Amino acid sequence: MAKLCVNIDHVATVRQARRDVVPDPVEAAKAAELAGADGITAHLREDRRHINDEDVDNLKKAVKKKFNLEMSLSPGVVKKALEVVPDEATIVPEKRQELTTEGGLDVIANFKRLKAVIKKLKAKKIDVSLFIEADAKQIKASFDAGADFIEIHTGSYANAKNAAAVEKELKKIRDGAKYASSLGLKVNAGHGLTYQNAGKISAIKEIEDLNIGHNIVARAVISGMATAVREMIKAIK
Ligand code: PXP
Repeated sequence: MAKLCVNIDHVATVRQARRDVVPDPVEAAKAAELAGADGITAHLREDRRHINDEDVDNLKKAVKKKFNLEMSLSPGVVKKALEVVPDEATIVPEKRQELTTEGGLDVIANFKRLKAVIKKLKAKKIDVSLFIEADAKQIKASFDAGADFIEIHTGSYANAKNAAAVEKELKKIRDGAKYASSLGLKVNAGHGLTYQNAGKISAIKEIEDLNIGHNIVARAVISGMATAVREMIKAIK
């Protein structure tokens, strides 16, 4: 069974909707670990639209298990990662206009820059993961660039519209995980995973961690609503 790393970005998204101090992603991270999460993932985006530098500092102190920092190759973000020294750094592509990380990293096109950043991160004993599509050329390039892990982008699997399309995407992920593992890379997966579709990815034996965010935060809002309302009624009384 794969381990679960909870991505708490969207707790910060709710906070930033009001530029407030609640909800605190660090409190969410502590609750997730208490509930059994194997790690916490946060994405420090260049535009700091949800997680900010202070969150990253506080997460580094608070997270007891694995702290996985998602980051782009932007120099300011790389500098912060080298200062904070998370357990793992997952390098992702980043476009300013996107709602979320839309596709995998093009390791081949960015090979030289990636290799240099991977070397710096590894010098600080940070495990490096590259967020890529399950594509043999990208997997081989990730290995050649010196990554420890790849994270397979499960977005196409999550968005597949019928059983045949789901199977096709699953096969790509299974084959990619097997190939990466044969090279000695460790394999994570994530993006778009839900309570309904995570099981089939978790069943792939090469996959170590699942990074799941949006669906868990969405569920937490609904499952926590009754308690929150009861507490407010008590406060009003
Ligand atoms: N893995 C990576 C590399 C991501 O960029 C994201 C989204 O921030 C996730 C996993 C989590 O995706 P989701 O929020 O759809 O579960």
